[in-house]
Amino acid sequence: MGTPPDSPPTKAQPAPAPVRPRPKKTGSWNSYQFVHSRGSSTSSQFAHTLSIDVNTVAIPLSPGSHNTVEVPAVRSPDAHAAEYFHSLSLSPSLKERRLSRNSFSASLPIPRSKRQSRLSNVAFPDVQAALGAVRPGMPPVQPTREILSSQVQDVHSEMARRAKNMAFVFDIDGVLVHGDRLIPEGQRVLEILNGDNQLGIKIPHIFLTNGSGKPELARTTQLSGILHNPVSTEQFIQSHTPMRALAEYYSTVLVVGGEGYRCRDVAEEYGFKDIVVPNDIIAWDPTIAPYRVFTEEERASSRPRDFSKINIEAILVFSDSRDYATDLQIIMDLLRSQNGRLRTVAADPESQRIPIYFSQGDFLCPTEHPIPRMSQGAFRIGLEAMYKAQTGVDLERVVYGKPELATYKYADEVLASWMDVLHGEERVPENIYMIGDNPASDIVGGNMYGWNTCLVRTGVFQGGENDEENPANFGVFANVLDAVKTACRKQLGHDFRFEWSDSMNPVLHGNAEGSSAIE
Ligand code: G3P
Ligand code: MG
Repeated sequence: MGTPPDSPPTKAQPAPAPVRPRPKKTGSWNSYQFVHSRGSSTSSQFAHTLSIDVNTVAIPLSPGSHNTVEVPAVRSPDAHAAEYFHSLSLSPSLKERRLSRNSFSASLPIPRSKRQSRLSNVAFPDVQAALGAVRPGMPPVQPTREILSSQVQDVHSEMARRAKNMAFVFDIDGVLVHGDRLIPEGQRVLEILNGDNQLGIKIPHIFLTNGSGKPELARTTQLSGILHNPVSTEQFIQSHTPMRALAEYYSTVLVVGGEGYRCRDVAEEYGFKDIVVPNDIIAWDPTIAPYRVFTEEERASSRPRDFSKINIEAILVFSDSRDYATDLQIIMDLLRSQNGRLRTVAADPESQRIPIYFSQGDFLCPTEHPIPRMSQGAFRIGLEAMYKAQTGVDLERVVYGKPELATYKYADEVLASWMDVLHGEERVPENIYMIGDNPASDIVGGNMYGWNTCLVRTGVFQGGENDEENPANFGVFANVLDAVKTACRKQLGHDFRFEWSDSMNPVLHGNAEGSSAIE
């Protein structure tokens, strides 16, 4: 039960809130209502409601930290698995539920600085690409066009002001792409927002995805290719992006999920000092995962150590597990161990339990397969069930990603920063449109945060007029192009044109086509 004698000192954990937030069963507060379900719009029997007044949520700075802020969790730290159990499958336990040291989950640390380049001191050349100076597979924007569009914007200054006072936040999977396959309307939308419009103006937009599994630059480079439009890391948030803040709290961490060692690369970029992945543990002791076939190649590329002498301080599930049996076994071993030391079993696992973080909670994910596939949320619920079955107590955990408040607050910061890059104004535009396909993450989070929400029919949502539990407040659209055009028409006028014309004559207020104002 005690800490082994050679345990390294642990860093400060995220501060517990004085009063731990509990799920509210009624929406009686004067607040947004946060209806949280399991990623499927049809899982009404599993939905529960949290109420939180996001306007009054203070964001404390982490004690002794200059680089992180801690956002109170709105998503319950409690396990969801109990609702899925038949009671006979549980060992009865009379143990009183009490606060464990995992009550850290009352807050989620996020980076204080929204600019990744500021955080890592790495120059991100793709900013220039995203501004249009370099367009993959496309000719560069001609300087004369920039002059012309700025003249058009001068003439239509009120419309240009409104274009800078709106922004889009795009979900990716099921809105712009399906896995590696382009949704054609997604490409057209980005062309319009990158300047192929009446004003030739860049309409601000960022990407907020629960996707995961590779470094931000690798993912944005891949997306730029699929979408035939530039995507910068500076306008991009994936599920684990805000988790870089946790590098301030833990030294030795187990990172789970993703292909090969890509999530180790992600964690290294985020500044984690001592990163362990499941393969390192199997290479040390193959008997820990009896069903795993471990290849020589995997052994050669792993980093085994004597994990019976090392305290793993936290578990970070960054991405989808590629081997549920192995990953669940190792995570269970760690959760039941004495302070994260393998080959030990704590007498009281509840008090010895190390924290576990998930990068997102989606149950389902749209892919190339015609029926959405299970995602990290399914893995987590499986783990919760196993933990409860084996220990008799609920697993407390922290889940980042949409619809968590911390992720939306971080998105606001990124948006303000991107506005600065695009238009030299570091502020959040007033009219923000979240476009998503998953009512239980994109839409509920956007509704809670006061954004306009648009639900598209190209992904997870396959329902009727609107989602019953988490209806999109701006409407349901066939695809992302319909949603963007409707939002632009509302903000910029019904006759706003979604195409740039080089023959626009700003001197004649754009009414005479065919002759240029620039001689
Ligand atoms: O659910 C997993 C992830 O792929 C979803 O991504 O872009 O729809 O948030 P996105
Ligand atoms: Mg999606």
